Amino acid sequence: MSERLAIAFAPFKAPLQPVAALLCAEELALGPETRSLDRKANGMVLRAAEAAAFKGKAKTSFELLAPAGLDVSRLIVIGAGQPDQAKETDWVNLGGYLYAQIAARKSEEASVVADLPDPRSRSAADIAADIAFGALLRSYRFNKYTTRQKDENGEEKKNDGLARLVVHTQDPEAAEAAFARRKAVANGMFLARDLVNEPANMLGPVDFAERVKELTSLGLEVEVLDVDALKELKMNALLAVGQGSARPPRVVVLQWNGARSRRSKPLCFIGKGVCFDTGGLSMKPAQGMEDMKGDMGGAACVAGLMQALAERRANVNAVGILGLTENMPSGTAQRPGDIVTSMSGQTIEVLNTDAEGRLVLADVLWYAQERFKPRFMVDLATLTGAIMIALGKEYAGLFANDDKLAADLIEAGTATGEQLWRMPLARAYDKLIDSRIADMKNIGGRHGGAITAAQFLQRFVKDTPWAHIDVAGVAMDSPKTDISQSWASGWGVRLLDRMIADKYERTEK
Ligand code: BES
Ligand code: MN
Ligand code: ZN
Repeated sequence: MSERLAIAFAPFKAPLQPVAALLCAEELALGPETRSLDRKANGMVLRAAEAAAFKGKAKTSFELLAPAGLDVSRLIVIGAGQPDQAKETDWVNLGGYLYAQIAARKSEEASVVADLPDPRSRSAADIAADIAFGALLRSYRFNKYTTRQKDENGEEKKNDGLARLVVHTQDPEAAEAAFARRKAVANGMFLARDLVNEPANMLGPVDFAERVKELTSLGLEVEVLDVDALKELKMNALLAVGQGSARPPRVVVLQWNGARSRRSKPLCFIGKGVCFDTGGLSMKPAQGMEDMKGDMGGAACVAGLMQALAERRANVNAVGILGLTENMPSGTAQRPGDIVTSMSGQTIEVLNTDAEGRLVLADVLWYAQERFKPRFMVDLATLTGAIMIALGKEYAGLFANDDKLAADLIEAGTATGEQLWRMPLARAYDKLIDSRIADMKNIGGRHGGAITAAQFLQRFVKDTPWAHIDVAGVAMDSPKTDISQSWASGWGVRLLDRMIADKYERTEK
């Protein structure tokens, strides 16, 4: 959260911190610098490795205390697996694992010697930057509401743990340059994690909009549309969701104009931002309702992405639009059976007030196309419980009307480990949301709930290439991984940043 891990890059010859980590590949293969450290220690590293039956497998380690010949108090030897086969995500995950090993030693400063034998899968600078990125991501804590920091034994902590990590590498300048982009992405992910972890009493639609306004300092243009502006635009579907809440809705428009031509058509990202989803009058059961503070995970991801693009000064024009509201039951709430006229002019019979995300997105998608004529639009939404029934918490669900956009997203997902699985859209599913007394109803039948939700959204898409990512399983209540111990993973920032970098910046005229 507040005090972030500081990362520095240094040459191999720079003195090591008192806690230092070394990398050792399978077959106990060491890089040249690490071998010379082992020689200084009279071969103790390799002898200890044998004694510990350490094989250098990824995610294994052992520790030497006060090794003779080396000026460190603790030397942690970390398995690096097979460096010739490791993918980018493996290096990042190794950085996360390594952070956890070092942080458990309670030192405020530490070194990692990022030296590996040849052949390896990436340049030394990229590997050093990947490891630093993974360590930084793992270091994230959401601890602003704990007044006393305790360690695992319940004892008051003496310090905040690891504050500075020095990565020793062949070419520190090149590593530093490679890290700058990753750091921008990490900061975007941290913003997304912070927003999703924040409880709903502290973060309503207005608070969310205020928080995002701070991004103007990075050069983003930020506009906040209030209720009057939304009424003027006839965003009645979005307004209907918010009408039961004492806290008014907002729509936030963020623009990053980094392309050489200001007129180049923007890429558009849209986020569902339901700051709390009680279900409205179709109320959710008490069990687990607290998780619905995270129902703005799509909007948080878009905010984090826009921050990352601005911070790394991406060579692209991008727009982020957040539909922020709160779904509450009250005397002013919408009722099951109400019919609303969306901004598009199409009418919607609201049969279940808990299917509110699609109502919000219907108007925001329409607005995005009318105002920006984007090259494509991608929406992210914690839209359905059904997507978790289908895919669990490993893959997010992808729906698209455009095969190229879908393929680009899937490719970026594989590269970053934020994986997507494509789901179908078809006329037969679309029929399931026809209503007898309005143009459509906001729920389908019992089956294919994530698909009928996507079909509903598609009714608000004209001929713009469009993808919908259902992030209900991945944005919140996330499994703990090497690079995230947080309830909110910040899922999607890395994926979308990568797709933009690989497919839209190099080709930008
Ligand atoms: N925000 C929920 C979906 C959700 C559920 C996200 C669990 C994350 C975890 C969404 O607004 C919702 O309530 N969807 C309903 C739709 C149904 C009423 C058609 C659902 O999935 O049950
Ligand atoms: Mn809901
Ligand atoms: Zn919801």
